[in-house]
Amino acid sequence: MPDGSSYEVRVGRGTIARFGESLRVCTDATKALLISDSVVSPLYGQRVREVLEESGFEVSDLCMPAGEENKNVDVARELWDAMSLLGFGRDDVVIALGGGVVGDMSGFVAATYMRGLDFVQVPTTLLSMVDASVGGKNGINTAIGKNLVGTFNQPIYVLDDLDFLATLPDREWTSAFAEIAKSAFLGSEHFYDWFTQNAHLLATHDIEATHDAILRCIEFKAGIVAADEQEQTGVRESLNYGHTLGHAIEALVGYGELTHGQAIAEGMRFAAYIAADAFDLSEDFVADQDILLDMLGLKSLEQLPDPEKLYEKMCSDKKTRDRSVRFVLPSRQGACETVTIPRGILMGYLESYASRKKANDKL
Ligand SMILES: NC(=O)c1ccc[n+]([C@@H]2O[C@H](COP(=O)([O-])OP(=O)(O)OC[C@H]3O[C@@H](n4cnc5c(N)ncnc54)[C@H](O)[C@@H]3O)[C@@H](O)[C@H]2O)c1
Repeated sequence: MPDGSSYEVRVGRGTIARFGESLRVCTDATKALLISDSVVSPLYGQRVREVLEESGFEVSDLCMPAGEENKNVDVARELWDAMSLLGFGRDDVVIALGGGVVGDMSGFVAATYMRGLDFVQVPTTLLSMVDASVGGKNGINTAIGKNLVGTFNQPIYVLDDLDFLATLPDREWTSAFAEIAKSAFLGSEHFYDWFTQNAHLLATHDIEATHDAILRCIEFKAGIVAADEQEQTGVRESLNYGHTLGHAIEALVGYGELTHGQAIAEGMRFAAYIAADAFDLSEDFVADQDILLDMLGLKSLEQLPDPEKLYEKMCSDKKTRDRSVRFVLPSRQGACETVTIPRGILMGYLESYASRKKANDKL
C-alpha cells in the first residue's frame, strides 16, 4: 500500500477470535462503532461485539438495511446522526462488518463524520474479501448513478475470517468469482496459471483454493493501489475491466435481479469482443475467458438491455467525459489499455454484440 497508508490484512479461519487483541495494536480508541446490515448483524454481530469488549472496547452497534439500494445518502445521514447521539469523536474507531455495501458505506461515513476517523474492515462476503475491503475507495450511490459520491480513505486494519463464508449464499460466491477472474486476467502470468488450474476448485467453494484466491487478489490489488492510489495515472483505472458495461447493465436490470458479478462478467465478455476486433486480442484469450467464466457459473446473459439505454447509462458513469465512454480493453493476458470510444462506434459494437447473442439463441 502507498506510503503512510500501509495496513495489515489478516486472512484465515477463525481469525475473529483474536480480533479485539489484534485491533488493539492498531488503535488507542476506547469507543468502537460496529456498523453491520440486517442480514449479517443477527449472524455475527454479537460474536464480534464480544471479542471487542473482551479487549476493552466500549462497543455501540448500528444496523443498516441490507442491499445495494440502501447505499444511499438517507442511510448515511442516519448513521452520521446516530454517531453524534452516541457521542462518537475523532479518536474513536468505526468497524465495518459486512459485504461491500456495508464496507463502502462505513468507510464513507467514517471519512466524512467530523472530517474523518479511523475505520476497520471486517468483510463477510467473498467479494469484499477479494476486492472491496482493500484499496480505500468508499462511497454511496445517488439517484443518477452508482458510487457517484465518495472519498479515498484507507482502513487501518482489515481482518478476513473465512468461517464467515459458511453462511454466504451461492449467488454471492458466484458474484465474487467475477472479480477474482478479473484480477487473474489482468494479473501476473503466475496468478493466471494458478487461476486456470484452480477455477474448478473455486467453483465448488473449496476453502483452500478460496484462501489462496483471497491472498492473490489482495496482493494484485495492493500492487495496483500502491502505483496509483487516487486513480491519477490510469493504472488503477484498469481495475474497471468489465465494469463500464457491467454497471450499466446492473442499473438497467435492477440491483438485486442480477448479481454485481454476473453484470461484470458480461462486461468483460463485451470488452474482449471489442478488443478482439479493435486490437487483435487473440481468439485464445477470448475463448479461455469464456470457458473460465462459464466454469465459475457466470454464464453469458441471454439478452442485453436496449443498446440506446445502455449507452445513456454509461454516459452517467463517473469515468465518462463529454459522452465518450471509457473502456478497459485487454490487449493480452496481464495487459490492457483504456480507450475512449465515440458514440457511433460503441453503438455499432453494442448492436452487433446483441445480435450475435440472438443468433446464438436460434442455433
Ligand atoms: N470499494 C471498492 O473498492 C469496491 C470494490 C468492489 C465492489 N464494491 C462495492 O461492493 C458492493 C457489493 O458488495 P457485496 O457483493 O459484498 O454485496 P453486499 O454487501 O450487498 O452483500 C451481499 C448480500 O450478502 C449478505 N451477506 C454478507 N455477508 C454474509 C454472510 N457471511 N452470510 C450471509 N449473508 C451475507 C448481505 O447482507 C447482502 O444481502 C457494491 O456496492 C460495490 O459497488 C466496492
